[in-house]
Order: sequence, then structure tokens, then C-alpha cells
Amino acid sequence: MLNLSGKVALVTGSTRGIGRATAEKLAEAGATVIITGRSEDRAVEVAKEIREKTGSETFAVGMDIGVKESVEGAFKRITDRFGGVDILVNNAGMNRDTLFVRMKLEDWEEIIRVNLTGTFLVTQLSVKGMMKKRWGRIINMSSVVAFIGNVGQANYSSAKAGLIGFTKTLAKELASRNITVNAVAPGFIETDMTEDLPEDIKQGFLNQIPMNRFGKPEDVANVVLFLASDMAGYITGEVIHVNGGLF
Ligand code: NAI
Repeated sequence: MLNLSGKVALVTGSTRGIGRATAEKLAEAGATVIITGRSEDRAVEVAKEIREKTGSETFAVGMDIGVKESVEGAFKRITDRFGGVDILVNNAGMNRDTLFVRMKLEDWEEIIRVNLTGTFLVTQLSVKGMMKKRWGRIINMSSVVAFIGNVGQANYSSAKAGLIGFTKTLAKELASRNITVNAVAPGFIETDMTEDLPEDIKQGFLNQIPMNRFGKPEDVANVVLFLASDMAGYITGEVIHVNGGLF
């Protein structure tokens, strides 16, 4: 098994879905894991569950990545407790789907603010400690729609495509400090985000997936675990697709 003991990992939006599965995998590998979500109460519950299941140390903090003050407040607590983070998984994200012709400026701005600017805020506060330690792992959660587009997701697919440019640039800027920066691009994964889609839309996606099944949060979490480990130490600026062959 990959050994992450001694490492502190921050996973944004880790109270459910892909983020939670990732936090659990990192904790199983021995990392101390910081669970975050907009609701601190929920983060506390999940942190307790993961601690009991894995035996690794966990820490919970409420953090809305779309609000600068919230990110700064959370980081103060993280830094006071741990000094900094070694592994950052920028997982938190949201969508607000509507056809482009009907998309309001607020729909556009909100999705860019959370998915892209939120990632900027959290990453900027995380890299300083990594640079000092000369070791770090940053993994950004993009999406297959950044590469193939999707009806109703002009805002979301733009934000997720932005994360690819962000990943590749940071990889170049931080490589000399032994910090790797990679992106994971999931296809259709069974989580709350995809649960409410109409059946015909789901079936339409399924028809395009050669492996003929939707992904599970663990399918994505396994790749994040690998990228966070020493086994992936010479991989940076890369995008790993996890989509059952969809793209
Ligand atoms: P989810 O909706 O179950 O989980 C998203 C998490 O992000 C939740 O914990 C939510 O509270 C948190 N979050 C949302 N806005 C936030 C904010 N402003 N501040 C802090 N936390 C916030 O969704 P899922 O599927 O687990 O998604 C995880 C990541 O994977 C997201 O970035 C999503 O865009 C991405 N993704 C998901 C795919 C899927 O098919 N489920 C496909 C491709 C990418």
C-alpha cells in the first residue's frame, strides 16, 4: 500500500462524493486528513467517521472556497494546528446548468468564482508551506466536459477548462521546489452531483461509455491517491482521465 504517514492532506469539499472517498483513501494510506465543507458541523461528523474507520488523525474545518474571508479564516486554523499542508486536493466544485442563451451573468460568475477562483484562493495559501518544505502535491479536479463540452454547461466547462491551464502553469512554476501539480478529469461519476439528472440524459451518457457503467467515487479517489504518493514523483502538469473510455 502507498504510505503517506507524516503527510498532512487538505481535501476541499470532502463531506461527500468524490472528495469524501478521496479523504478516506488518503487516511487509509496514513495521511492526516483535513476535512472541509461549507458546513463545519458536517465536516466534524465526516472527520469522526473517517478517523474511526482508518485510525488516522483527522481535522475538520468549515470553509466556503468561494469566499475569500472564509478560506483565510480556515487557513489560519489549519496553519495554527499543522503549520501547513503537504497534499492539496482541490475537489470542491459545483454546477448550475442552463442553456447558454438563457444563462444569466450571475450563473456564469458564481460557477467561475467557486470552481476557478476558489481553487486559486486555496492553492495560494497552501503553496507557501510546500515551497518552504520543498515537497508538495497539488491535484485539481477538472472534468471530461473541459475537453468535450456539454450542453447546458458553458459556465462549468469553462471553469473546469480553466483549471487545466492553471494546473499546467503551476506545474512549471513549482517544479523546481519539488511540488507536482496535476489534474484529474472524471467522466460521469455516481454522486449527488449527477443523481438528479433525468433518466434519459443518464442513459444518453451511458450509451457513450465503452465500459458500460458509470464511475464510482473510489475510481477517482484511487488516481488522486497515486498522484499524491511518491510513486508519482516525476509526473507533473499532467491530466489523468477517469471516464471508462468516454473520451
Ligand atoms: P458533490 O456535489 O457530491 O460534492 C461536491 C463537494 O463540493 C460537496 O462536498 C460540496 O459541499 C462542495 N462544495 C461545493 N461548493 C463549495 C464551496 N463553495 N465551498 C466549499 N465546498 C463546496 O459532487 P462530486 O461529484 O463529488 O464532485 C466533486 C468534484 O468532482 C467537483 O469539483 C466536480 O465538479 C467534479 N466532477 C464530478 C463529476 C461527476 O460526475 N460527479 C464529473 C467530473 C468532475
